[in-house]
Amino acid sequence: MAHVEALPPAPVLQRDLFNESLQLKALRIPKKECQKYMKLLAGYTFEKPRLRCILPDAAGPETRLLLLAETVHGRELEQIKEKLAESNIPIIPYELPLDYTYFPADYILKKLLPEGCEVPTSFESVGHIAHLNLRDELLPYKHVIGQVLLDKNSSIRTVVNKVGTIENEFRVFKMEILAGDSDLETEVKQYKARFRLNYGEVYWNSRLEQEHRRLTDSFRKDEVIVDMMAGIGPFAVPAAQRGCQVYANDLNPRSHHYLDINVKLNKVQGRVRTCCMDARAFVQQLCRSKASGTPCHDSPQEREWEVPEGGLLFDHVVMNLPASAVEFLDVFKGCFDEQRWQEHPLPTIHCYTFAKADECNADIQRRAEGYLGGPVGDDVKIHLVRDVAPNKRMFCISFRLPAAIAFHKHSDATDEPASKRTKTDQ
Ligand SMILES: C[S@@+](CC[C@H](N)C(=O)[O-])C[C@H]1O[C@@H](n2cnc3c(N)ncnc32)[C@H](O)[C@@H]1O
Repeated sequence: MAHVEALPPAPVLQRDLFNESLQLKALRIPKKECQKYMKLLAGYTFEKPRLRCILPDAAGPETRLLLLAETVHGRELEQIKEKLAESNIPIIPYELPLDYTYFPADYILKKLLPEGCEVPTSFESVGHIAHLNLRDELLPYKHVIGQVLLDKNSSIRTVVNKVGTIENEFRVFKMEILAGDSDLETEVKQYKARFRLNYGEVYWNSRLEQEHRRLTDSFRKDEVIVDMMAGIGPFAVPAAQRGCQVYANDLNPRSHHYLDINVKLNKVQGRVRTCCMDARAFVQQLCRSKASGTPCHDSPQEREWEVPEGGLLFDHVVMNLPASAVEFLDVFKGCFDEQRWQEHPLPTIHCYTFAKADECNADIQRRAEGYLGGPVGDDVKIHLVRDVAPNKRMFCISFRLPAAIAFHKHSDATDEPASKRTKTDQ
C-alpha cells in the first residue's frame, strides 16, 4: 500500500504565542539631557525597527529611560560605566514586552508555517482586497495566512485566494475569501482615473496599469477609439480623459454596469458610449451604422446613442482578450465601406494575445494573419506586455488594417470568416 504522509495540522492563529520580553538595561537620565546621552553612548543604545530607545519613566516626568542594546554586557557595560563616571546616572534593569502587534507578517508566518515552506507575504492589492495565489502546499494554512495578512496591512479589509485557473469567457477569477469581510466591491486608482468594480464579478488586473497607459498615451486627443472588450474601462476612461471619443463594449453585463459607473465617476460621459454585446457584432454594427447602445442605468438623462449615417469612422481598435482576441480579427474582413472610408485612414488594430516562451514575433504575426485572412503589411509592431507564467507571455500586436482586408468583397463559399474554419494554427 502506498504510504501517504499526513499533513501537519493547520495552525490556529494563537496571537499570545508571540508574547515575549527583552531583558535590557536602561539609564535613568534627565529629560533635558536626552541628546547629550544619546551622543555620548552612540553605538551602545538599543536599536530595533519600529521601537524607540528613549521611553517615559514611571519614576517621574523629569526623567527618561535610555535603553541600551541587547548586546551590552561585561566589557561593554564597563566601558559605559567609565563614560558615566563623572555623572550620577544609574543603570537599571528594564523588561521590554513585545507581542503579536510588534512582529511583521513574514516573521509571524515563518513561525507558524512548517519549515521549508515559502512564506507568502506579497499579494496583488485591488482596493481594499488582497489577492493571493497560494501554492498547494500552503492551502492547509490558508485561513491563518489570510488572517495574518489582514492584521498586518491596515489598508486591507478582505483577503482572497485564487481558486483554479480562469476559464470562463468573462475572465473573472474564481476565488475564496480567506479572511475579513466578504464585500468585494472596491475602488482602485490608475494614473488619473478611478475605477469602481466588484472583484468577484468582473475582470481586473492591476498589473496592466503600465500597458493601459502605454496604449492610451499613444492616442491623439481628436481620435476615435473602439474598445471591443473594454471591461470596466481601463483603456476607455483614460482615452476619454485625453479627449478621445470612445465606443466601449463588453459582453459581461456586470462589466458594462461598472463601465457606466466609471464613465460617470470620471466625468467623461460626453465622450464615451458604452454597449453590452458580443465584440464581433459590436464592430459589425458600428461599421454598418446600425449600432446603438443603452446605458444600463435607468436614468432619464441617459439616452440611447447611435452611430453616424454610413457607419462610424474610427482611428484605433483595442482588443484586450488575450486568450482569444486574435480569433475575432476575422470580423474586419470586408466590414468597411470603401466609399465611406475614402478620406479617412483605416484604423490601427491593437490586439492582445498570449504566446509560449519559444514563440517569436513571426509566429504571433502569422497567427494574427491567419484569423485576419491576409497579410498585415509592413506597418506592424509587436510589444511584449508582460511575462504571465514561465511559459506564457502577453503581447500586443498593432498594425494598420490593410485596405485589402477592410474592403474585401466576400465572393464565394471558400471565403467564409476565419472563425468558421478549423483552428490549425494555434
Ligand atoms: C482580459 S479582460 C480585459 C478587460 C479590459 N480591457 C482590461 O484591460 O482590463 C477581457 C474582457 O473581454 C470581455 N469579453 C469576453 N468575451 C467577449 C466577447 N465575446 N465580446 C465582448 N467582450 C467579451 C470579458 O468580459 C472581459 O471583460
